[in-house]
Amino acid sequence: MIKKETVEEIKNAARIEEVVGEFVSLKRRGSNMIGLCPFHNEKTPSFTVSPSKGIYKCFGCGASGDSTRFLMEHEKYSYPEALRFLAGKYNIHIEETESTEEEKQEEKERESLYAVNSFAASHFAKRLWETDEGKSIGLSYFRNRGFSDAIIEKFQLGYSPEKWDDLTAEALNKGYKLDYLQKAGLTISKNNRDYDRFRNRVMFPVHNMSGRVIAFGGRILSQDKKQPKYVNSPESEIYTKSKILYGIHLARTPISRENNCLLVEGYTDVVSLHQTGIENVVASSGTSLTKEQISLIKRYTENITILFDGDDAGLKASFRGIDMILEQGMNVKIAMFPLGEDPDSFARAHRSDETKTFIENNASDFIVFKTNILLKGTENDPVKRAGLIKDIVESISKIPDQIKRTIYISECANILDMQEQTLMNELNKILRSEYRKKFRNHTEPEGPAVEPVLPEVRQKDPDQESIETNEKNIIRLLLQYGHQFITIKDAQNIVDEEEEETINISQAIVNDLVEDEISFTLPVFQKIFDFYRKFVDQGEIKSNRFFTQNEDKKIADAAINLLAEPAEISHNWKKKHKIYIVHESDILERTVTHSILAFKLDKLKQRRKALQYELQNTKPDDDNILDLLHRIKKLDHKVSLIADKLGRIVLR
Ligand code: CTP
Ligand code: MN
Repeated sequence: MIKKETVEEIKNAARIEEVVGEFVSLKRRGSNMIGLCPFHNEKTPSFTVSPSKGIYKCFGCGASGDSTRFLMEHEKYSYPEALRFLAGKYNIHIEETESTEEEKQEEKERESLYAVNSFAASHFAKRLWETDEGKSIGLSYFRNRGFSDAIIEKFQLGYSPEKWDDLTAEALNKGYKLDYLQKAGLTISKNNRDYDRFRNRVMFPVHNMSGRVIAFGGRILSQDKKQPKYVNSPESEIYTKSKILYGIHLARTPISRENNCLLVEGYTDVVSLHQTGIENVVASSGTSLTKEQISLIKRYTENITILFDGDDAGLKASFRGIDMILEQGMNVKIAMFPLGEDPDSFARAHRSDETKTFIENNASDFIVFKTNILLKGTENDPVKRAGLIKDIVESISKIPDQIKRTIYISECANILDMQEQTLMNELNKILRSEYRKKFRNHTEPEGPAVEPVLPEVRQKDPDQESIETNEKNIIRLLLQYGHQFITIKDAQNIVDEEEEETINISQAIVNDLVEDEISFTLPVFQKIFDFYRKFVDQGEIKSNRFFTQNEDKKIADAAINLLAEPAEISHNWKKKHKIYIVHESDILERTVTHSILAFKLDKLKQRRKALQYELQNTKPDDDNILDLLHRIKKLDHKVSLIADKLGRIVLR
């Protein structure tokens, strides 16, 4: 752990404008600096840095914080990583709190493993570039494959000679301990002999996130079918296969920038794509993605495009694995390469822009893709077709976002030429059983499961009922999408202006409702809304976990129920969506706008009624009467504006 004093020192030394300035170009404006916000898309700068306060704040999206927060948000560093970055930048010596003997031992072991791996990487590279054997066998192999010298160096590729202990002997000679060479899997000891794991292979070092070598893959050079094509390092203290993606250290910034991660199978695919200028790519190294790997990608983007070789033998088998990506709320696309080609061979045979365009043009949404693939050959087979529906809806049910699910149901119904309702019923069946499963698992120790119903409210008149549906809808939108950004027409006041702005959804809703001092009927909704209002005021963005795990049980229950219940979406919108490309942000924008307006309209009408009532009970000579009439007129104007606006929002 970094000592408190050091943390203080680092925080004092950090100049916010210098830290932010490394990533954003800033201009001075008065005592502040301004620039284009790196956290959302904007054309006019609303990102403000205050050197005197040591903070940044974006007036567009609400992002704000100090130097460490900036690094955590922008570079996805953990808190200690951010501190270490700053310490490096400002030449501050980090003092750590005393660690226990065990911690020290562990740290030493990890450092030693990094050290032998780093040594091995430079050893293999040296052998590749500086020995006759390396040059004639390894280097010529890479060059024959079309790898440029620059790309070979960028990936620190190397060569392990045929000799049985080339690396081990050299490492021991340099003072590296046999113990660590063994633990890193570089040396194998058998029958009193210590020999190299990697021999006569070209070497691909595997790096962790921060670019340190943690393992190797060694590719065979011959066509020998009896030997495995790749020999890989075993897992170690510093290398867990399921948590690493090949190329992530080079890809993380490009992935963020492109807001998309290309996923390929092999080392050579990653290398070739880089060489052609496509850098937002990682490899799963021949296995299907794990949860940890998906989370790793999710730190940088919500979008994955999986690049498949042009034979669909492995394709169907991988569908299950892809469901897991959907489950984590990511958007998945599939791009198929022509038969007999993989990303590596394609990239080598085509110009860089051709490869890029090919991927873009061929990437189709996973669910749509899967539906089309499965549909093949079932045209006249009703039994197969029924199975197919289940299979597809199963995938759709994994998607946590309810709006997206609805869109997919529409889309698939279209492709399959079926009633939406049939798919919807199947979906609800799966969701209900999933929900029951989950619910049971979570609450068993505390008591019997409770059905997901909202707290019942008193008998309602139709107006009141409409208000409650609308306010429920608003809170659900806040919980589900409050942290997301949308481009909304005039966020400040939907009614008055028509300017486009990218804005955080909770901000859009809060600002709009607060302006007309609109309150909620249900106390628990008011409470939740007040929290959002507070967060927006403080420029914070909280995930809905704050509510689902709230200590106030009423809040937690309401939040959980709202998020769990398959909320009713406006019929208009379910109705059609006959296009194949899903513009979900577009739909989201309209949904948010629509919900705000509908809620507001109800509320203003209610207010109008109250004023009318007041007017009827006011004596004609009362001084207040003019004021009342004025207020009613203003309200009427507003109501008609909103109604008009509401009528103009087309919900598909
Ligand atoms: N792989 C492995 N062990 C094997 C075969 C494959 O670990 N025996 C992993 C490697 O990470 C490899 C990936 O699976 O990169 C994909 O396999 P493949 O496409 O066969 O290898 P490429 O790296 O693409 O090699 P090449 O292009 O030379 O065929
Ligand atoms: Mn391959």
